[in-house]
Amino acid sequence: MSVEAERPAGSREGEVRTVGIVMNGVTGRMGTNQHLIRSILAIRHAGGVRTAGGLTIWPEPVLVGRSEAKLRALTESHGLERWSTDLDEALAAPDCEMYFDASATAARAEGMERAIAAGKHVYCEKPSASDLESALRLARLAREAGVKHGVVADKLFLPGLRKLRRLVDSGFFGRILSVRGEFGYWVYEGPEPPAQRPSWNYRSEDGGGILADMLPHWRYVLDDLFGAVKTVYTLGVTHIPERVDEAGRAYESTAEDAAYATFELEGGIVAQLNSSWCVRVNRDELVEFQVDGTDGSAVAGLRECRVQPRDATPRSIWNPDIEDPNDYPAGWLELPDQTEYDNGFKVQWEMFLRHVACDEPFAWDLFEGAKGIQLAELAERSWKKRRMLEVPELEL
Ligand SMILES: NC(=O)c1ccc[n+]([C@@H]2O[C@H](COP(=O)([O-])OP(=O)(O)OC[C@H]3O[C@@H](n4cnc5c(N)ncnc54)[C@H](O)[C@@H]3O)[C@@H](O)[C@H]2O)c1
Repeated sequence: MSVEAERPAGSREGEVRTVGIVMNGVTGRMGTNQHLIRSILAIRHAGGVRTAGGLTIWPEPVLVGRSEAKLRALTESHGLERWSTDLDEALAAPDCEMYFDASATAARAEGMERAIAAGKHVYCEKPSASDLESALRLARLAREAGVKHGVVADKLFLPGLRKLRRLVDSGFFGRILSVRGEFGYWVYEGPEPPAQRPSWNYRSEDGGGILADMLPHWRYVLDDLFGAVKTVYTLGVTHIPERVDEAGRAYESTAEDAAYATFELEGGIVAQLNSSWCVRVNRDELVEFQVDGTDGSAVAGLRECRVQPRDATPRSIWNPDIEDPNDYPAGWLELPDQTEYDNGFKVQWEMFLRHVACDEPFAWDLFEGAKGIQLAELAERSWKKRRMLEVPELEL
């Protein structure tokens, strides 16, 4: 996708609404791939976001970061024109009404605060800040400034989880009893093969750690799909104490690289979610959730979802002395794709752009984002104290 798309011409004044977006941290992994290429550029290639009222929203990115060389290369390779290494200068542009931040977590709050002070609508990667206090401060600043605000909640828009939501909404499960989630894969320690994630992920002083990375996701997944999270107990572990960074230098892993968490949800549902960068994959997908209910069960991954209704549940008898007569994998039915599933980040971008341009509702604001950080902090505290903790209502 190196040739840039043309802004569509409106036949009447107001038919095309350009939304200038200062995009910070887009030279990073998530910023380049998911947000710039698969969302903003894909939206432009599709001719913009069309709204129910017949408006076309046309996103106009201005790339911001620290490295002139990287920004220039990224801008040129995608046929874009505008970039800057000066955030305040970019924020001063009157045609930019929105700011997006996918920089490393530790740098997020500062950029967001500057954007809010400049009166921009703000949207960002999760977590929205490095700690709960800063996340709530940002949310309140945005509310006071009267700007629109949002945080990425991409997992909810994955095909597998959208199929799972359909099952929950249709009552397929009966009473939901439990949710078991396995997330993870093996992240190389380096130097050979080189690590496939940035080294800051393994240093707590740089905002790393799997709790800060994954618990914000688990909060909105659990809250949205199954019921509000009421309690948490987590055991965090740094399994690999030393890794090798991008420059080939050994460093100490100061952040946890695995977290084994148990949650109680509203309605008595028990959720157990393992998150690990130190696990070799023996599942169909890098994340899988098994949901068991009185009337049926489902296993959902990033893309697929298979089900076993109550009446198709095989009779299992515990007897290790004989070969089990059941073919368990064969007892599950794969749900078909009943619709086309677009990239989850892009779908959420389209929603946020409609929120900005047409005031359509957007559920995942900075207060919702703060709840994810609250859960990550409580999970860490429960691990350090070695006891289960209540999840209190946030004072918004
Ligand atoms: N939604 C998801 O599924 C998902 C997945 C991975 C990461 N993330 C989040 O996305 C963010 C970026 O992660 P990534 O994996 O792309 O990281 P990355 O290291 O590849 O990219 C980070 C970007 O921030 C910039 N940056 C780093 N330190 C900075 C600083 N001090 N000041 C300003 N800019 C700085 C880098 O130059 C780069 O452009 C993180 O907050 C992470 O939690 C979200």
